[in-house]
Amino acid sequence: MHDSRSVSLDSPDSFDKRTDRMYVTPESSAASRNNESAAPRIPLAGCPLVLSEKQFSDLGTEVVKFLSEHLSRLPDKPIQPDLKTSVLPASPLAGPPENGSSLSDLLSVVRSATETCYNQTRGGFMAYVPGGGLVASAIADLIAGVINPYTAFGMVAPDLVALEVEVLNWLTALVGLPSTAFGILTSGGSLSILSAFLCARTAHFSEEFHIGTIYASDQTHFSTEKALRMLGFPPDALRIIPADSELRMDLGVLKETIASDRAAGRKPFCIVANAGTTNTGAIDPLPAMAEIAHQEHLWFHIDAAYGGFFQLTERGRERLVGLEHADSIVLDPHKGLFLPFGTGCLLVRDRDVLRKAHAVGKPHVLQDLEGTQYPDFADLSPELTRPFRGLRLWLALHLHGVAAFRNALDERLDLAKVAYQAILATPNLEVIGSPDLSIFAFRYRAPGGRPEDHDQATLKLVDQVNATGRTYLSSTQIRKQVFARIAVLGLRTDAEEVATAIKAIREFAY
Ligand SMILES: Cc1ncc(COP(=O)(O)O)c(C=O)c1O
Repeated sequence: MHDSRSVSLDSPDSFDKRTDRMYVTPESSAASRNNESAAPRIPLAGCPLVLSEKQFSDLGTEVVKFLSEHLSRLPDKPIQPDLKTSVLPASPLAGPPENGSSLSDLLSVVRSATETCYNQTRGGFMAYVPGGGLVASAIADLIAGVINPYTAFGMVAPDLVALEVEVLNWLTALVGLPSTAFGILTSGGSLSILSAFLCARTAHFSEEFHIGTIYASDQTHFSTEKALRMLGFPPDALRIIPADSELRMDLGVLKETIASDRAAGRKPFCIVANAGTTNTGAIDPLPAMAEIAHQEHLWFHIDAAYGGFFQLTERGRERLVGLEHADSIVLDPHKGLFLPFGTGCLLVRDRDVLRKAHAVGKPHVLQDLEGTQYPDFADLSPELTRPFRGLRLWLALHLHGVAAFRNALDERLDLAKVAYQAILATPNLEVIGSPDLSIFAFRYRAPGGRPEDHDQATLKLVDQVNATGRTYLSSTQIRKQVFARIAVLGLRTDAEEVATAIKAIREFAY
């Protein structure tokens, strides 16, 4: 298995040659001479975990080669592999070995393991919310991981923190929030929403928050419910407001529900608006909801995890008018900016509320750290020690330039429109609502069939399309009916992929 080209970090021979470090080995130690063998090798100087420049460079070359091969083979890989059982050799599942292995052996295990994973970075993947895996950000992770700066406090990495601040300021300006606003980068939308509701709760309650109520449409992502549960709100704190025929919140019902809650002694404190639902990409009537929130003195939160970055485009900006009224906004760069998974963002209109919600005062163990003009992210977010996420965004945005992202998102709006019109024009298929952004849902209406037949036929259609291996769709339920979804957000989703998807859908929608 051992590949002579690969770097081994384990072999005493190779290690010593590269680093000139001395080891006490079973052969050379007194313990060994006295036959007390099996003692582990103990480095006298240095540590094998610290790589020489050459070792690191060899590792890097091997990893880049591995990933380049992965990317060049990607178009031929199945989106959904047909593997029900593990293809891993038994050894990697037996726990880590006492002594290390060669990188190339380990990469071949990883290569095998990826044989059973969905290749959701392929252009034909239009299910759920596709993620891009932007290489520039993956490189940023490598840089950030190796330098490993501590960016929880401005004092210890001021200029690196400044890069993250630049990105956050750019984001707040993008959505039209005022200069009082600031934000945090998180691991994703769900954690951003948790912090958003913590801010809303902090702004409205000092202690007793259990009588608080929050309003969201029936199209809202389930991370809202989860965040409220994690924050200790009882289940009935969340008031689900029905959506209208375009799957946007029904504001008449919203107003009535707020009024009846107040009459019943409850304390309404927050309205959640969607700027792009997961089901169909629908945008709630943001300006009107902002007005209601203002009149009712409620926190106005916008979930723009999927849709927010369409604000970069002219059409997106027209459709997302009202973002600027938010008290808090969630954006997911790992969706709309194609970044690797693990990058979310929360922006809050009033940075003091963000701080008040998260800061608990400095413990003695951190008393040497002084405040600076740079933010202390430890006081603005749930995390203390954190990865330097800012570089993922900063490097990608500076390397490619904003126009590259704007054009990519514009293209996805065009492609979604093409797909929508093609599905609309196909007999037996019906679309629910009209797409605001790049996701929509449709259903197969079996001629002469009953509603339950349509459900089954729609699921069968999704299966048949997915079985082509070229396009991958997912299904959902809206108002108890099954729908297929098309989400045009993949980094590699282009006109050809969309044409392939349409052809497959039409072929099976006989
Ligand atoms: C609209 C919306 N909000 C929130 C989330 C949760 O985001 P994450 O998966 O990053 O936690 C999602 C995920 O798809 C989403 O589509």
